[in-house]
Amino acid sequence: MTDRVRVELGTRSYDIFIGCGLLEQCSDFLIPILNRSKVAIVTDEIVAAHHLDTLVNCLSQSGIACDVLRLPAGEMTKSWPYLTQCVEWLLDKKIERQDVVIALGGGVMGDLVGFAAAILRRGIRFVQIPTSLLAQVDSSVGGKTGINAIKGKNLIGAFHQPSLVLTDISVLETMSQRDFLAGYGEVVKYGLLGNAPFFEWLEEHGHALTQGNAEKRAEAVRVSCQMKADIVARDETEQGERALLNLGHTFCHALEAVTGYSDRLLHGEGVAIGCGLAFELSARVGLCAQELPSRVRAHLKTMGMKVDISDIPGPLPPAEDLLALMGQDKKVVAGELRFILARDIGDTFVTGDVDRESVLSVLSEALSIRG
Ligand code: GLY
Repeated sequence: MTDRVRVELGTRSYDIFIGCGLLEQCSDFLIPILNRSKVAIVTDEIVAAHHLDTLVNCLSQSGIACDVLRLPAGEMTKSWPYLTQCVEWLLDKKIERQDVVIALGGGVMGDLVGFAAAILRRGIRFVQIPTSLLAQVDSSVGGKTGINAIKGKNLIGAFHQPSLVLTDISVLETMSQRDFLAGYGEVVKYGLLGNAPFFEWLEEHGHALTQGNAEKRAEAVRVSCQMKADIVARDETEQGERALLNLGHTFCHALEAVTGYSDRLLHGEGVAIGCGLAFELSARVGLCAQELPSRVRAHLKTMGMKVDISDIPGPLPPAEDLLALMGQDKKVVAGELRFILARDIGDTFVTGDVDRESVLSVLSEALSIRG
């Protein structure tokens, strides 16, 4: 069965199709949006080894020609040199404004190729085919595209909505358990930020997801995408409500920065730890019940995820340094740090009204557990 989630954005509305084996049927979804029988595909070398042949075979069986650019896998690819390479390659291939470029891969590919599409000829169309859980539930939806700056992640970019998102649940089978669980951090985020019944569902069915239950995986991806689609439809450019999608991210971005965006901490792992810290901070300032942070952490722990700062290997700087790094967060307004805090599971809000001392004490305590 294929689910369809619609992102309602007027003339820029698009569908997210979610199901098993969609890569093998990709032409059925692509043909209605193509202006000519030609596409460009940008992917990374690891994803290419697993999924490129399936995509290319399906396209060629339908008479659709494709050019393919393979880039190195990894966060370093989300940078000026690879953006330049991608844009110049698309120009070499004479990709026109009405053509479609396909981003086949995880969050790095989606963000990079989406940004290339946003700036090439002042905006060409692109399709997201996300191959990681994180990309399927978050980065492929909503049109945030970009690359990293030396001063921080995702600081250079544009809002540019895809024309279609094709989410094949079967491709998750090739993911490592660690990468899958990192993506699961973003899934949990949706329950925590605005859907308590979904969090309860995850508490009940989370293990089925890690054990490969495709039906439950599709359901988790559908609910996550529907929540994101609804929020993006109301607040495309993050003037308000969309910032809720950054639950846990203020802490996460600082932790990612001090671990050098390396294998020590994957983004989704940082989100999970950050969600725990956001609930801890909420309890500390008296917004939510004291036992809620433990409930959040208990679920992450039973899933086998990183839960606390102490789960990050290697040395970390003191709390003051982490707090200083949070100042580079994109949610900073007029120099004021903004946090997503919780009144309850599924009941969150954005605020700049958090005193520095409370944040420092939550961070100091989390760091002290490391011993
Ligand atoms: N990843 C958060 C957002 O798309 O707004």
